[in-house]
Amino acid sequence: MIAKIKQLLEEVETLKASNAEELEALRIKYLSKKGAINDLMADFRNVAAEQKKEVGIKLNELKTLAQEKITALKEQFEAQDNGSAEIDLTRSAYPVKLGTRHPLSIVKNEIIDIFGRLGFSIAEGPEIEDDWHVFSALNFAEDHPARDMQDTFFIEAHPDVVLRTHTSSVQSRVMEVSQPPIRIICPGRVYRNEAISYRAHCFFHQVEALYIDKNVSFTDLKQVLLLFAKEMFGAETKIRLRPSYFPFTEPSAEMDISCNICGGKGCPFCKHTGWVEILGCGMVDPNVLEANGIDSKIYSGYALGMGIERITNLKYQVKDLRMFSENDMRFLKEFEAAY
Ligand code: DAH
Repeated sequence: MIAKIKQLLEEVETLKASNAEELEALRIKYLSKKGAINDLMADFRNVAAEQKKEVGIKLNELKTLAQEKITALKEQFEAQDNGSAEIDLTRSAYPVKLGTRHPLSIVKNEIIDIFGRLGFSIAEGPEIEDDWHVFSALNFAEDHPARDMQDTFFIEAHPDVVLRTHTSSVQSRVMEVSQPPIRIICPGRVYRNEAISYRAHCFFHQVEALYIDKNVSFTDLKQVLLLFAKEMFGAETKIRLRPSYFPFTEPSAEMDISCNICGGKGCPFCKHTGWVEILGCGMVDPNVLEANGIDSKIYSGYALGMGIERITNLKYQVKDLRMFSENDMRFLKEFEAAY
């Protein structure tokens, strides 16, 4: 028995395998249940009592060596698999999954692009704002309902600090540091204390436009609105202006476009009127110019503001506003080809 163990020890000492299959064959030969070492273990009970100690030690030595050798060979193959093997530079790359632009970004960029071509440049302001820029500088009376807790998120312990409810706040930010001509477009996120449903959310996105110069008239505003509507929704689009009220514009209007879903014939989206409202606008109230350091006797201007979600709904007919913030890949993938 000792002679057999010694012979196996020599064999195991020089074990070699050139691939994983050969290695597995060696493992079976020496270490499996029916392998050579287990056979010897089974014979161990027949060894004479006085030899048991010596044979036992040698047998354990053999088993440990076989395990070590086979593990070492295995590690060597694994290391090769992990890159030390030859690299095939001609192999095609793994396909990289590209992300998609968010539909709101697509539409925002389109709006920016249209106004950009008319000479408007982008201005941005903070989402956490003070009462002055969101309300007071824009001619909101002290008791205006928009200042109410129901609409506006206030920062607790700082009643003067709010989450902006509209991007019109950027108007006052820009006016207070620059003199006309001012021609800006302000995209951004706004917040209102609304219950979340398929048609309302506590945050959404707006784009504001402001143009101030000498002799700016309502005609200029109307022409820009018509051009924007045609660029955004197609050359056949019609617009109509309805008188409205905003604290920061006088006169004020809301603009409808001919429903681009039914082409103006009437459908559930336009509530069978053929028209859908898309934005608010007007001539900047002289009080706003003065409050922000611009001489209203020399300058006049127009402003307009629209919700990006609303424009996106019209373009892509997204029925549930919540889809925009759920990050559902199935929804976002739909916009893969859009831009
Ligand atoms: N700030 C208004 C809102 O959030 C939208 C708006 C209306 C902006 C009229 C304007 C404007 O600049 O002239 O509902």
